Amino acid sequence: MAEPLTIALSKGRILAETLSLWREAGLEVPEEIDESRKLIIPTRDGTIRFVLAKPVDVPTYVEYGAADLGIAGKDVLMEAGRDLYELLDLGIGRCRMCLCGLPQLEWRTHRVASKYPRIATDYFRTLGRQVEIVHLNGSVELAPLVGLADAIVDLVETGRTLRENGLVIHDEIAPITTRVVANRMSFRLKGARIESLCERLRAAANKGERV
Ligand code: PRP
Repeated sequence: MAEPLTIALSKGRILAETLSLWREAGLEVPEEIDESRKLIIPTRDGTIRFVLAKPVDVPTYVEYGAADLGIAGKDVLMEAGRDLYELLDLGIGRCRMCLCGLPQLEWRTHRVASKYPRIATDYFRTLGRQVEIVHLNGSVELAPLVGLADAIVDLVETGRTLRENGLVIHDEIAPITTRVVANRMSFRLKGARIESLCERLRAAANKGERV
């Protein structure tokens, strides 16, 4: 039998939605994925093995060929800037990358806080505005409230975090959804299997009118 396709899944927020879509596509999801702490989980039929990675690391596994395919948010892919094939938009994990701040955005510190320094840097370069990007790892909304930065570049999903902290969106930088990416060599060598898998996922995503 051919060796299994290795697929890097993002642990956390988008995992449940990814697995639902997988099931809707009629593809096998090993029960262990929800229950165990194992990091490598093969399907019973041996055609696929899932590896469970931290979302920001998924592009790395795929670029180095440790995984043939990866499922990751467009935010993570933009920030990683890895050389991958982006094959499919699954239409799940929908949110927006935005510039946010207090309703009256004043440039005092000329600093912008973000978990996404590359995306923030590119955005301000395009605007031709000079700011210092301060890299944070979470709870980024705190930064403008305590004077660490004038604004933030962050994901907005429901808008609840902004609302509850008195912040607003000042600009939308990019729409974000979950994507399927492939290692370039894997796509060349295992293209037919990858295409047929993507076809089934595409059909399930379209059925759910997610894309
Ligand atoms: C994300 C994002 C926002 C929030 C947006 O953070 O960075 O803070 O979710 O969601 P909302 O618009 O529905 O409120 P996450 O929960 O991943 O945690 P973090 O603050 O540790 O990054």
